[in-house]
Amino acid sequence: MSKDHAKWLGFAKNLAITAGRLVIEARQNSVFVRDYKADHELVTSTDLAVDQYLCSSIAERYPSHRILSEESSPNMNLGEIADETPVWVIDPIDGTVNFAHGHLHVAVSIGLFIGQQRILGVVNAPFLGECFWAVKGAGAYCNDKKLSVSGAKELRNALVATGFPYQKTALSPILERVSRVLHHCQDIRRNGSAALDLCWVAAGRLDAYFESVQPWDMAAGALIAEEAGATVGGYLPKIGAWPEVVNGEGLLVSTPALYDDLLNVLDISVPF
Ligand code: IPD
Ligand code: CA
Ligand code: CA
Repeated sequence: MSKDHAKWLGFAKNLAITAGRLVIEARQNSVFVRDYKADHELVTSTDLAVDQYLCSSIAERYPSHRILSEESSPNMNLGEIADETPVWVIDPIDGTVNFAHGHLHVAVSIGLFIGQQRILGVVNAPFLGECFWAVKGAGAYCNDKKLSVSGAKELRNALVATGFPYQKTALSPILERVSRVLHHCQDIRRNGSAALDLCWVAAGRLDAYFESVQPWDMAAGALIAEEAGATVGGYLPKIGAWPEVVNGEGLLVSTPALYDDLLNVLDISVPF
């Protein structure tokens, strides 16, 4: 691991751990308020407070770096950024619905990429006491334990996670894919945090995960899954302006042996 990577990793871990404490305190003290964005998407005052904490800390420490953050800069134009500029991709709370309903599956997600490369990812799950992290080429870890994907080879024995968008008009093809996967695998989970779904594939607790998500949902977790040996790809053409490394359109992540079968199941234009 290079000196820069080690320094950025330490910084990102500290941020994610401190942000996780803010998340726990806000819920223990019930001090957050709910609001709604477009498509009735829930956002709480804690999402905004954590976002503010993360973004101001990054801007203070690395003023030349850029930030793509769900709450304060979701439309940042990545096209105008020079290839060598580090870009931090932030989801202050991944699992906001879980957070607001008292569930434990909640994470702070921090990814860093440069040009077309994922550099590092940290996903801290404060209620679960688990901090997942990875650096390109240096493996993936949960706390201090090295991660590797499960040995799942057969779809009918596979546990597969997915998720649903807030926007209800897009549900029809999603439910068709869910039905097809459910018919062919052991069972499906909808845990409510895309970042943790990716980490759980990395940890071998899930055998695969598919969903269309935003860059901040997957920037960190995709690298963690990849570094743990998962195949990271997609079942839809990549539309939109996001570079491939942070484009979560039709994201499919699985053990290498399951990947092609899942691609076939998820292609709803042909029978499987
Ligand atoms: C959501 C979670 C959820 C996924 C949604 C995301 P948020 O993020 O990751 O698991 O299914 O697509 O929007 O809103 O909790 O940050
Ligand atoms: Ca999210
Ligand atoms: Ca979020």
